This record gives sequence, structure tokens and C-alpha cells, in this order.
Amino acid sequence: MLLTVTPNPALDKTYLVDRLIIGRVHRPLEIGEHAGGKGINVARAAVSLGLQSSATGFLAGHNGDLVRNRLEPARIEDGFVTVPGQTRLCIAIVDRDTGTQTEINEPGPTIDQAALDLFQERFSALLERSHTVALCGSLPPGVPDGFYAGLIGQAKSRGIRTVLDTSGEPLRHGLDAVPDFVKPNATEASDLLGREIETVGDAAEACRIFLERGVKTVAITLGRCGAVGADETGAWYAEAPEIQFASAVGSGDVFLAAFLVKWLQGADLSERLQFASAAGAANAMVYGAGVFETHTVQNLTSRISVTRL
Ligand SMILES: Nc1ncnc2c1ncn2[C@@H]1O[C@H](COP(=O)(O)OP(=O)(O)OP(=O)(O)O)[C@@H](O)[C@H]1O
Ligand SMILES: [Mg+2]
Repeated sequence: MLLTVTPNPALDKTYLVDRLIIGRVHRPLEIGEHAGGKGINVARAAVSLGLQSSATGFLAGHNGDLVRNRLEPARIEDGFVTVPGQTRLCIAIVDRDTGTQTEINEPGPTIDQAALDLFQERFSALLERSHTVALCGSLPPGVPDGFYAGLIGQAKSRGIRTVLDTSGEPLRHGLDAVPDFVKPNATEASDLLGREIETVGDAAEACRIFLERGVKTVAITLGRCGAVGADETGAWYAEAPEIQFASAVGSGDVFLAAFLVKWLQGADLSERLQFASAAGAANAMVYGAGVFETHTVQNLTSRISVTRL
């Protein structure tokens, strides 16, 4: 089983409006409500691609219940612990005229020591049934920056593959525990390494630094410019296909899920990158994070060229 960890999940609410005008009243043309959070997106995408997946983290209050209710229909096993407070509500307003998205993201409930202890117990039990653990997204208030590093250490000591997709201090600390696979986007990698990542060459150089730090496999995603990946077999660039664009929110999460699916099938790095890039693009063709047509992924895969760097 793939275990995904989402410490700070969200009830994602999306409003589609004709045109967003500050100070005006808006009546949405469409309303969407989804279980959000990066690990949940990864699990949703992995299930769509045929991988049994569970999700854990912290859920709280009424919003937490609404998130929880959406897991079973998505065939995601619910491993969340219930904590006091209220799971955050994240509102995205999509402007149909300009295609822009304006977001209002709550911080999430404050996690206390009792909740952290409860989580530790649950995480340990879930690890028993997992081959891979993916640690995804930001940390809610109260969770220390070294949280992911601790979980990586526990999983590694049991021989479980560890995947890290976060940013800032949690990424910096997490890297110290040397996860097996990291997937920053260009901004996240650039912030971490303190160097610009604008070209494929920059990304390849950044990948090399991650490998030097002991990470076995790294992929840096570059949005509509594709992705660069590296492991001990070398570095590869997968382009992104031309698509009819809707929203790329969650494309990185879907990329990650698809990459893992191929990895577990024994595919080499270039094939994993090709399939993952197709899946990230398929996600960008529809509204909703971690939502895509599986036949689109297959069609796009054959159109993506992968080159050795
Ligand atoms: N506009 C696009 N056109 C085609 N492919 C895209 C587009 N945007 C993203 N992709 C594909 O999805 C992959 C991941 O996207 P991106 O780099 O935006 O991830 P991210 O910033 O981590 O996203 P998130 O964290 O919101 O999930 C890219 O490497 C690319 O293959
Ligand atoms: Mg991302």
C-alpha cells in the first residue's frame, strides 16, 4: 500500500465567476467542493492509476468530516486521526475572463502534543502495511519543522521507500533524513538551494546537488516546461506536451503519483518521467487537483520525448 501523509489537509472550495471585481458581490457560475491537501491529491491520483493507497494526517471539526466523507468514494483508505479545532477551508476564486485564480487559504488547526502522539501511533500501525510513504505539503501550526525528518527516519528503518514533496524549512529538515525521492518544483528547489532554476540545465545542476546530499532519486518539475530527473543511472529531461489548459493546481501531486506507479512497475527513470509528465499535463487539462482522465495520460505519454542530459 502507498501511504500518503497530509498534515494540513483542507476542504477546498472553488467558485467559478465571470469576472472577479474587488468590492463587488459575486454569484458563482459553478461551485466545487473537494477534499484537498497534497497527500490526498497524490492518493487520489495513485488510486486512479491502479495503486492501493491510504491517507493519514490530522482532521478536525465539521470541515474535517466533510473531507473524510470524500475519501471512501475516492477509494482512499482513511488513516486520519481526529484532533480538536477545525480543518482549514481553502477558497479559490477562478475568474473565467482572465483565467486567473485568487486563493484564500486558512492556516489550519493548531496541533498539540497529544495529537502528535496519537498520530505517531497511527503512523506506526499504517507503516506495517505500506511499501512506500509519501510526505506531502505544508505543516499546520504546532507541528515542528523536523516532523517529516522524524517520519522518514522511522520508515527507512523499516525498509520502506520514502518520498518527500514539501517546501521551506520542512524540506530543509526532511532532506537531512535523506529520503529516497524528492520532487520539488523549480521555485521550491531554488529557494532551498539559493540558486536560480530557469533552464533545463539549471534544473539538472540542482538535481546533481540533491544526489550529492544522498537522495537516491530526484525530479524537479518545471510546470509547462516539463521535468528533469536524476538518479545513479544519469539525468533525463521530459518535455511537457502542448495541451488545452484548464488549471495546473495539483499537477505536481499527480506527477508524483504517476512516477511512483511506474517505479513500482519496475520502469526505469526515463519511462517514469515520461509517464509522470503526461499525468501532470492531464491534470492541467481539467479543473480540480488530482483529477484527470486516465486515457488522456496514455495518449499524452506517447507524445512526450525524453532526452538524456
Ligand atoms: N501547463 C502545462 N502544460 C503541460 N504540462 C504541464 C503544465 N503544467 C504542469 N504540467 C506537467 O505537470 C508537471 C508538474 O507540474 P508543476 O511543475 O506545476 O508541479 P507543482 O508546482 O509541484 O504543482 P502542485 O504543487 O500544485 O501540484 C510538470 O512537470 C509537467 O509535466
Ligand atoms: Mg508541488
